[in-house]
Amino acid sequence: MKKHTISAFVLFLILQASFINTIAQVTNLAAGVQKISAGQPDKFTPYAFCEELPMKTALASLPAGKLPFKLADIKISTNDRGVVVEIPLDNSEQLYGFGLQLGSFNQRGLKVKPIVNDNPLNDVGYTHGPTTFYVSNKGYGILINTSRYTTFYCGSTAKLNDRKSTDTERKDGNSVDELYKNNNQALGNVTVDIPGAKGIEVFVFEGPDLKNVMQRYNLFAGGGALPAIWGLGIKYRVKADFNQQQVIKMAEYFRENHIPCDVLGIEPKWQTAAYSCSYVWAKDFFPDPNAFIATMKDKGFQVNLWEHAFVSPKSPLYEPLKTKSGNYLVWGGLVPDFADSATRGIFANYHDNTFVKQGISGFKMDECDNSNIAFGSNSWSFPELSRFPSGIDGEQMHQLFGLLYQKTVYDIYKRSNKRTYLDVRASNAFASSYPAALYSDTYDHDQYIKMILNSGFSGMIWSPEVRESNSIKDFMRRSQTAVLSAQTLFNSWYLQNPPWLQINIKKNNAGQLMDNAKEVEDDIRKLFEFRMSLVPYLYSAFADYHFKGIPPFRALVMDYPEDKNTFNLSDEYMIGSGILAAPLTEKMDERKVYLPAGIWYDFNTNQKYEGGKYYTIKPSLTQLPIFIKEGTILPLAKPVEHVTPDTKFEITCFVYGNHTTTGSLFEDDGVSFNYEKGNYNSVNLLWDKNKGAIKRSGSLKGTRYIIKKWQVIN
Ligand code: GAL
Repeated sequence: MKKHTISAFVLFLILQASFINTIAQVTNLAAGVQKISAGQPDKFTPYAFCEELPMKTALASLPAGKLPFKLADIKISTNDRGVVVEIPLDNSEQLYGFGLQLGSFNQRGLKVKPIVNDNPLNDVGYTHGPTTFYVSNKGYGILINTSRYTTFYCGSTAKLNDRKSTDTERKDGNSVDELYKNNNQALGNVTVDIPGAKGIEVFVFEGPDLKNVMQRYNLFAGGGALPAIWGLGIKYRVKADFNQQQVIKMAEYFRENHIPCDVLGIEPKWQTAAYSCSYVWAKDFFPDPNAFIATMKDKGFQVNLWEHAFVSPKSPLYEPLKTKSGNYLVWGGLVPDFADSATRGIFANYHDNTFVKQGISGFKMDECDNSNIAFGSNSWSFPELSRFPSGIDGEQMHQLFGLLYQKTVYDIYKRSNKRTYLDVRASNAFASSYPAALYSDTYDHDQYIKMILNSGFSGMIWSPEVRESNSIKDFMRRSQTAVLSAQTLFNSWYLQNPPWLQINIKKNNAGQLMDNAKEVEDDIRKLFEFRMSLVPYLYSAFADYHFKGIPPFRALVMDYPEDKNTFNLSDEYMIGSGILAAPLTEKMDERKVYLPAGIWYDFNTNQKYEGGKYYTIKPSLTQLPIFIKEGTILPLAKPVEHVTPDTKFEITCFVYGNHTTTGSLFEDDGVSFNYEKGNYNSVNLLWDKNKGAIKRSGSLKGTRYIIKKWQVIN
């Protein structure tokens, strides 16, 4: 016993000597956003590359925040390993975030390493979208502004010095559960380990409630993205080796069969070299790219091009970028130093002149994450020890690469006053303003649903893509989730035919369509038509993301942070202000749904439910598993097959619950950034005394929404 006391005392002295509490400086950056700086912070951080300025007026109009602790209680210390940050945490707090996590939802009690990786094994924090940012249901968010590989112990460590004399010894039972019970749960902080850093910036986002925290974060990053309106339709990616004629045939298939589709994505073979990339049309596959783009435009399709950022020796970009790249190659190609603005400029100008000016509406920015194991090879990207001319190292470049790639490509569209909707496989913090949807090669439907919720805690957009399936049920349930997400994406990059005609890869590519292919096609058409009906509502939810910072897709705990039943609810989410989605997966014929406080309506049956309770639902494969909150005016449009700048949506307003209530629609040209200069209308919807009325205000000439009908659901 005595020996134990002495060794603890010695350890105490060692700890005192090796940790130096660093003097911190606090700066108020905007209403409810503070920055604590200590030591010598790094140069290459996520915030250093933030695209937009904070939306200060919108930030100031949020209710005043209040932290559950004093800023001075956040401790920052440095030692020869790096920086340690300790943030207070009370016993009842629930934590969320760390980017687009796949496996976990509530992060309380976990050790999380948010590191960019396309192979996120074992739920340790690896993800396509790592952010060193978490939020608490007590109404605040903490962002460690670093691109170093960082570990968060979310109330999962116990420190010797913090041990209270009142602590009792463990009274372990003999069951496995009792033996392995984590006795550290009561620890009062989140500890952050940032090896290699000599200083740090900690951003603190105030609430007062959880949703306000996310609003502040998104508004501070310049407001959420507003994709081009056509981006909210259907995106279909064709097989990687399709040539010009085959893509046109696919476009004709959609139109002839009246299956809605706005964007066709072209995969690797359009280029003369793909791994690494030449960024040059392969003329044997696409003999006349301009004529091809014009044909697609005539048929009402946007064209999106697959690429990644590793520059082939065959590319015209190789020579200009040779001295502006890292000292390691990927697939024989250069890794451009996107941390340098001149390098981004060279890449951007080439893409602008070669593709964007020709009418390419967006890119799929692939392979910008790191990888442990991919297709049998274990080194799929540049090493962490790489060096770049700007001074950034490989580790920090990995964390920021997807973010910087988005910046490079998005800037082309921004300066051309054209909006887009991009695909990207890696992102990071302060990316809220990028209209880029993350996607993944992983294909677990449960995880895909969880990622919809987690995207809302990280200022990211996520598309749970559909490819092949195990069964029709699996296929339809996945398709439902895709329709109820930020981007409806069918990625047939290895499928000759649309998966609704054949779900099995082998048979699909052998041209053996399913016996009931036409029936499944009919069902898919119904789901797509619902998606097109929802475009005005979704577009307005994205406008709220932009102007107010409210994530269009978010976990229920964000709207109901006091409701314990939402703390670990990782498979239901809100879409906009009035829709609750509860997707089903292949394993389910029915599912339990939790409806929070209030009255809710089953969208399919109009049955009324009292909130605060669990129910069992059994939606069919063509019924979308959604509930509408009482007081919602749900504007549903007559579905169009694709959206053009002239599209007029004919809308029926469904009023849920016959009470006086309001709603709104955001109306602009849908394709330019003129809304930033105030060129838009707010269409206010009002239901009062059994009558509907609309009031349009704003400077946009012309209208996009024609309100045809009002219908009460009661
Ligand atoms: C993968 C990507 C797929 C597909 C493929 C083409 O990395 O995630 O969606 O584009 O590359 O080679």
